[in-house]
Amino acid sequence: MQTLTLPSPFSTMAHVDKCTESKYFLDALNLFFEVQWLYNIPVTDLLTKGLLDSIPKEWTDALASLQMQELNHFVVKRKTNPQWPDGLKAFVEKCRYIDRLPTLNATLFTKLPKKFQIGLNDKKQHEIIHMAHLVHMQCAPLKIKIIVDFGAGLGYVCQLLYHLYGYQVLGLERSQENVNNAKNRQAKMYPDSLEHVKYRCCDLTYNSVEVIETILRNEFKENSDVCLIGLHACGDLSINASKIFFNMKAARLFIMISCCYHKLSMSKDTDENGSTRKQYFNNFPLSTCFKSVIHDNNFDVGCFLRQPFLRLACQESAERWNDMSTENHDKHSFYVLARAVLQLYATQNDYTLKKCARKGTRKSQCLNFETYIKDSLNRYIFQSQKETNIKEQGVQFSTEMHITRMMELWNIYCDKLKIVEIYTALQSVLQASAESLLLQDRLCWIQEHGLEATIIPVTNKQLSPRSYAIVSSKK
Ligand SMILES: C[S@@+](CC[C@H](N)C(=O)[O-])C[C@H]1O[C@@H](n2cnc3c(N)ncnc32)[C@H](O)[C@@H]1O
Repeated sequence: MQTLTLPSPFSTMAHVDKCTESKYFLDALNLFFEVQWLYNIPVTDLLTKGLLDSIPKEWTDALASLQMQELNHFVVKRKTNPQWPDGLKAFVEKCRYIDRLPTLNATLFTKLPKKFQIGLNDKKQHEIIHMAHLVHMQCAPLKIKIIVDFGAGLGYVCQLLYHLYGYQVLGLERSQENVNNAKNRQAKMYPDSLEHVKYRCCDLTYNSVEVIETILRNEFKENSDVCLIGLHACGDLSINASKIFFNMKAARLFIMISCCYHKLSMSKDTDENGSTRKQYFNNFPLSTCFKSVIHDNNFDVGCFLRQPFLRLACQESAERWNDMSTENHDKHSFYVLARAVLQLYATQNDYTLKKCARKGTRKSQCLNFETYIKDSLNRYIFQSQKETNIKEQGVQFSTEMHITRMMELWNIYCDKLKIVEIYTALQSVLQASAESLLLQDRLCWIQEHGLEATIIPVTNKQLSPRSYAIVSSKK
């Protein structure tokens, strides 16, 4: 395996430089407040809410003149042109500044041992080998021999940590089915690990320290110098893990790659219809510093740091635009616009679209709008908002009628494909800033609790977009 050049996890200051952090959070709040038109409403409502019209006209003009390759460069490199409007240049500049995520320099070529490749796609293989490598690089100098994996899933990384480096690993997982599958895989594929890698079903909360300590004592007869890890720990799990790390005496090291930020639990959802709905989360914002900045500057984050913001933070990264082909651009803009037309049709006719269980056609088979609609009529039920099925209404539309009427709408909007791609490009430029703000808040919380912490890039973002680990240590 190629050796990774990693920054020292402990190079960041232990104390929080309050002024710098407050300024960072305030600038981030201002940015997201200003550009909420770009992310605060789901793209399915692109037409119903007129989102394309909210892009400043001079921005669209500047970006529309770019060739596909130039648009790719704009997104990946966030390079602007001196002739562009000042507003667009300032937007890109702010995105760059709010994105504090480090870049990964090394190109990584790695191969897993044969028996670890079975059933795992390239992305998963890439993730587990780099996670295992990072864990080893951090644990070895501290002579840590025991690892607890939070949300272990099927135990891929647990098995690899034992196989490559000989760690004792405890995989904790909420789903009993996953635990059973992990154990079955282990018995079948890695029987030599049975004494060293253990799986237990456990719904982890911030309060789980004792439970973990008891399991560790029972399984490994030991309970000291432990490293807590998580690979794609979703929603609140990664936050609970950092709270456990802070409170668990035996835990010396913490390495957490999060995902699915939008699954964070809500503390309040005003449940009003549409875009005016306010949402507040239990674990975001998290740090006292960020919360104070919000309070002192009278921001109502329930309006603009809602689920759509968290979804933006866990969208694919801008790196996906690297060399994206014209064909892929065309496909992408077609699906976004086609879905938006479907939504517009439903809204104009007072239907809600309800997904039904029947499977649709494969994506590749519906690249013209008529096929797309036929497929959609298989996958969605148009439900009248008057709570009766459309077939029970006085006016009964046949499938043909729906198709004809939707085709008419498509003909009105189909020239918007390019601008849809521009909207997505601008969102992609903003994505890293959203993820950075979220991770900086978590990092700040750890530092406020007197621990050293940093963010380390682990995977290749083009292959695996949730690629950052928060690494923290205790003396
Ligand atoms: C995205 S999966 C990642 C699985 C695995 N780490 C991997 O990379 O293949 C997240 C896992 O965390 C588990 N999980 C989520 N919340 C949990 C909790 N509170 N306690 C334990 N496991 C949890 C889920 O059941 C799921 O298996």
